[in-house]
Amino acid sequence: MRLPMIAGNWKMNTTVSEAVELVSQVRKGLSGAYDVEVVVCPPFVSLVPVKEALKGTSIKLGAQNIYFEEKGAYTGEISPVMLVSLCEHVIIGHSERRQYFGDSNDVVNKKMGAALEAGLKPILCVGEKLEENEAGKTNDIVTGQLRSALAGLDCSGELVVAYEPIWAIGTGRAAHGKQVNDTIRIIRSTLAELYGQQMADEARVLYGGSVTADNIAEFMEQSEIDGALVGGASLKADQFTNIIRQTEEIFFPNNPPTKDLIPW
Ligand code: 13P
Repeated sequence: MRLPMIAGNWKMNTTVSEAVELVSQVRKGLSGAYDVEVVVCPPFVSLVPVKEALKGTSIKLGAQNIYFEEKGAYTGEISPVMLVSLCEHVIIGHSERRQYFGDSNDVVNKKMGAALEAGLKPILCVGEKLEENEAGKTNDIVTGQLRSALAGLDCSGELVVAYEPIWAIGTGRAAHGKQVNDTIRIIRSTLAELYGQQMADEARVLYGGSVTADNIAEFMEQSEIDGALVGGASLKADQFTNIIRQTEEIFFPNNPPTKDLIPW
């Protein structure tokens, strides 16, 4: 069974002090033991103070982006080797990076390679535009993005993919659970083609796009969806912790959160 993951992508939100306050509230809201892997991805400038604020918990830290070179004259960029001692995960290929910052499939592939080489665990985002969805091209777009992001890479380790239909991001118009489940089944079969069935069975595939405490259950009840990449709702501690608690209840209905699998 795959361990569910709920990751919060804070995007370009929170000052340093707001970030520390937010994560302290999340920490409080989650006291107890949970069988859900929780990741928060604050802006770069807040990684260090948030890491401090999370000491003694199992909440993991992720970055929202990286550059693919190790070091050098790349003003303003952050390399994987700079991040690896700070955080475990990194979001790569988010549609906002693809749309506003020119992260082409080729760039995403280079970033994936650099992250894996440095020992960061990528959360690879794929997803189609509204017009592609309406033209019935979702599977082609998503599998194309996946294949090019992973081209030439040994991905036998831990991989997390986030399926985020672009039209569902920040719009309040979430996809339907069943639709997402079908797309994720295709994602998993592409992973099986590339890396074998065992890797595909172990890789976690999340849904992202207007996830809230009100609709999380619809997604977590689907067999192929292993968690969520949450944007707006991860900026509200009560919403985010509620999403995590519901996820745990759905995945482990008979297990009250008394086990000590994840000590906080
Ligand atoms: P929202 O949850 O705000 O729609 O954002 C989703 C997302 O882009 C997470 O990476």
